Amino acid sequence: MTLVLGIGLRSGTSYRELRDLVDAVLAGLEPQEVSQVVTVNGRESEPGLQRLAASLGAPLFTATKLELSQQPVPTPSERPGTTNVAEAAVLLSGAELVVPKRKSARATVAVGRFPHEPLTAAPGYAVGERDVVHRVLAERRDVRRGFLDRPIADDVLTRVLESAHRAPSVGLSQPWDFVLVRDLATRRKVHDLAVAQRDAFAASLPADRRSAFDGLKIEAILDTPLNIAVTCDPGRGGRHVLGRHADPRTTWFSAAIAIQNLWLAARAEGLGVGWVSFFEPGEVGAVLDLPAHVELVGYLCVGHVEEFAAAPELVRSGWAARRPLSWAVHQEGWGQRGLPGEQPSPVIVDDAAAAAGVVRAAGAQVVRLVVVEATDAAHLERAEALVVQVGGERPEADFGVLWRPARTIDEAVELGVEVARDLVLQGVGTIHLEVVSDSAVAAGLARGVRLGALACGAVTDEPGQVTHSSA
Ligand SMILES: Cc1cc2nc3c(=O)[nH]c(=O)nc-3n(C[C@H](O)[C@H](O)[C@H](O)COP(=O)(O)O)c2cc1C
Repeated sequence: MTLVLGIGLRSGTSYRELRDLVDAVLAGLEPQEVSQVVTVNGRESEPGLQRLAASLGAPLFTATKLELSQQPVPTPSERPGTTNVAEAAVLLSGAELVVPKRKSARATVAVGRFPHEPLTAAPGYAVGERDVVHRVLAERRDVRRGFLDRPIADDVLTRVLESAHRAPSVGLSQPWDFVLVRDLATRRKVHDLAVAQRDAFAASLPADRRSAFDGLKIEAILDTPLNIAVTCDPGRGGRHVLGRHADPRTTWFSAAIAIQNLWLAARAEGLGVGWVSFFEPGEVGAVLDLPAHVELVGYLCVGHVEEFAAAPELVRSGWAARRPLSWAVHQEGWGQRGLPGEQPSPVIVDDAAAAAGVVRAAGAQVVRLVVVEATDAAHLERAEALVVQVGGERPEADFGVLWRPARTIDEAVELGVEVARDLVLQGVGTIHLEVVSDSAVAAGLARGVRLGALACGAVTDEPGQVTHSSA
């Protein structure tokens, strides 16, 4: 916690007088840092006040008379028409008043304490400016609808690309390039590729999920005046790119971050961006004539929009739900879940119970979860089946298999809870549980699935019996 000093003073008040007054007031408090001094507009040039702020190491801020007069001060000035600057300045800064106005001959001081927030968020950034950054992050959306028939001005686009191009990159390798695609014939070719992939994805879905997918729009390639293909040259920078040697994936991470920068900058310019990944990347590369060493990372549809939805389209349509932050934050090592300042929950079962009500299964999707020791191709042939492999080696990449190699039964329970919760977030309301393996670990994982599903209001049933219901 830090303190704020609100100070009112007559012109010519000496440093000594101010210092004595402030010292007397602070003497009654626990020693704490003064993070700012606030006064009324015009008094910031007073040498005594400037010296005081400098001696405290605190920046000096000002507020207008009008702003100050609007503060509900506890000790209004005795003289009508004059403002209690000291208290008003504290309140205006957002601090809680801890010492009401004290007077010397020519000055007044009041002290406030910031429970959380000072006027500045970081050197050079006012709190309001910080909040705008967080707002842009929260209000960025993947946009597929509502594009306006309005061209994008070159200066706007250049600003957006400059922000993208400022992204961090491993070893400053800057592996991205931006291919701006406006030509309708080119966009049609890319659109045809997306339609084909859409059909292929739809065909892979079980019937209930498919009908939900049919109502979703997944691209705006022809609805936007501009498409941007963001590419990655994995070899850029040569042999000794700093930081890439141990983890080559960092090159692609860098390109993805450039896309995020672009996305955020576009949001601030009123430009909607929709990322389309319904492609085999090489096919788009062929349409855009990318050299063989350059890879497609993201294909973006960009255009002006009137408004940005408050929540992701996949959330509004009920396709998927956002994952609570508390599920994603682990303290010191995997499994100690909890937000900063909270006692982490070491046992996911407790955590699962605590999560009840945070996420409620709203989806109608039914999934058949087959818990096996090692993958068996027979299970993979069923489109509605999701195989959870609790042992063995990492299976070949296949989204039909979740590899959850639990080392202990407790860990198996934890992983089971996570499996259930993640499925609920993807619209699953019912889990048919089939435990093929008879190992204790498989049983633990199945137990976790039941607990996780129960906490989120999903139904689990096992051949012949319904074990839990959301009712
Ligand atoms: C790598 C990546 C690929 C994506 N591909 C598609 C896509 O092909 N079609 C689509 O409609 N949305 C796509 N999205 C957008 C996501 O659906 C969207 O980001 C997510 O639902 C969250 O919504 P929000 O971006 O509005 O917060 C993609 C997003 C990312 C990051």
